Amino acid sequence: MCGIVGYVGSRQAQDVLVEGLRRLEYRGYDSAGVVTLHDEDLKTVKTVGKVAVLMDALSRTPLRGTVGIAHTRWATHGEPTNENAHPHLDCRGTIAVVHNGIIENYVVLKRELESRGHQFRSETDTEVVTHLIEEYAQSMSFSDAFFAAIDQIVGTFGIAALCVTEPRKIFVARRGSPLVLGLGVHRDEFFIASDPSAILTYTRDVIYLEDDEAAIVSENGVETFSLDHLKKEKRVEKIEWSLEEIERGRFPHFMLKEIFEQPKVIVDATRGRLDAKNGQSVLGGLSDVAERLRDVERLTIIACGSAHLAGAIGEYMLEEYAGIPTEIEIGSEFRYRRPIIDPKREAVIAVSQSGETADTIGALREAKGKGALAIGLVNVVGSTIARETEAGIYTHAGPEIAVASTKAFLAQLTVLSLLTVFLGRQRSMSQATGQRIIEELAVLPEKIERILAQNDRIKIFAKKYAHYSSALFLGRKYNAPVALEGALKLKEIAYVHAEGYAAGEMKHGPIALLDKSFPVVAIVTKDSVYEKMRSNLEEVRARNAPILALASEGDDEILRLTDDVLYVPRTIEMLSPILNVIPLQLFAYHMAVARGLDPDRPRNLAKSVTVE
Ligand code: G6P
Repeated sequence: MCGIVGYVGSRQAQDVLVEGLRRLEYRGYDSAGVVTLHDEDLKTVKTVGKVAVLMDALSRTPLRGTVGIAHTRWATHGEPTNENAHPHLDCRGTIAVVHNGIIENYVVLKRELESRGHQFRSETDTEVVTHLIEEYAQSMSFSDAFFAAIDQIVGTFGIAALCVTEPRKIFVARRGSPLVLGLGVHRDEFFIASDPSAILTYTRDVIYLEDDEAAIVSENGVETFSLDHLKKEKRVEKIEWSLEEIERGRFPHFMLKEIFEQPKVIVDATRGRLDAKNGQSVLGGLSDVAERLRDVERLTIIACGSAHLAGAIGEYMLEEYAGIPTEIEIGSEFRYRRPIIDPKREAVIAVSQSGETADTIGALREAKGKGALAIGLVNVVGSTIARETEAGIYTHAGPEIAVASTKAFLAQLTVLSLLTVFLGRQRSMSQATGQRIIEELAVLPEKIERILAQNDRIKIFAKKYAHYSSALFLGRKYNAPVALEGALKLKEIAYVHAEGYAAGEMKHGPIALLDKSFPVVAIVTKDSVYEKMRSNLEEVRARNAPILALASEGDDEILRLTDDVLYVPRTIEMLSPILNVIPLQLFAYHMAVARGLDPDRPRNLAKSVTVE
């Protein structure tokens, strides 16, 4: 989704800004732009398409200046065109603004500003901010005008602005869209970004702006404020992860790299958290609320996308092993459907890789407003959800760059199983059951290696299936949401119309679609619903649909149904999704490549969806 980078210091701003935009490319965007201030003049270059196109344009018309802001835009209001790309300038070309988020009252503001003679050049909501600041700046200082304009905006924003009257300053404000300020190593240069990875080349010392905070950044330092323009002190924090972690290395794509990192993902997500002796999980992030959790009688998991499917598996785990009634909810539905929350006995668990997904945040706030205990299960440290929850468990998957989630999903499942043991042991889960789960989690990395070793075989299957335009994914119980995740991966990156179904539901609809041109990908590993799954596959076979089966090692019986079998190691049923999803990730990846697509940057999708 949209990205922001800003720089003030002694280097040529253009180079720093473009490098930052390049690092934000993974988030998904469709146009890009940059503005610098030099000799009391704002100069912009904007292009449609990739940052490479912008770099090309900048090599022809370089922008001079040591202060500037830049943006990658993911279209919401108005098509991806040069005019709609940010930065947006005011009528006189003296103020430039970039913005992430959505300004909900832009129509009213625009009408009013037009009636006062302002000329708009784009269809965006963002442009109103520029003109609004311009309007106020006629009668007050730029700084006051900036705050006055922000005060008029309804909606979400991460905003950065430049003005020729304050030529060495960048003004920023945040509500709902992340912004981080970077303190340069040389202490005379400062950075702003919507995501720390954009500025990690230059600094690790950052200040995270919270919602309803603003800052003025110059080469003399950073001043932070509340949105009502009152000074506010903020803590400088250190970014712990390294640049190598966001480099692709020997892999052709980030997605493949991230799939192959998954053994380590389990190790990192469980490090220091496995107490095999007592059959317990050690979750320091929950210690403050452990007593309250003991009294919780109902859990609601809220999440979007793949995180939602991880939550759906978590629901099965928590009900079966912790004995707590649990509901999984899509963020965008939960927040608007007037959910009933019992403040004394209910906890909500927000699951999110980025910790910035607008719908998950909206749902979380709704639940908190109704008094629920709020727990975060988040990957990005210091993100909005991490900050707005009372307690939480980080998933420690490291930066995930590919748009479609793989390793973060696996880390979510791992942490959900740790949470299940934690809450289960507070209730009726026996020590022996706890031990069995903890011991099995410890050996999963080695089992994942065995699956990854089959990468070439999966690639062959992907080539064989690459010409199909549809697919049905089937699974039962713990693996029903895995089927949905397999289908989601395939449609996201290979653009195959794939549906995921709980296999028992097949006869109530999708079976009508099946024939020899409609393949079925079936998760039929040895578990409590194995025989039921086998019967469903007989029904599929009777309709001549090709079957690609995911079976447990040693299951030769399955060869009576199909020759296309991928074998996975056995594990306990509750943890089987952690293994079973991996061949499906690889299958989607190789399908995308076989179909000539870039799996890291699927069309129309964004890594972090910070708008509703
Ligand atoms: C986007 C991404 C998905 C992700 C979802 C939720 O749609 O493309 O991969 O699962 O957002 O993101 P979150 O950061 O909240 O886990």
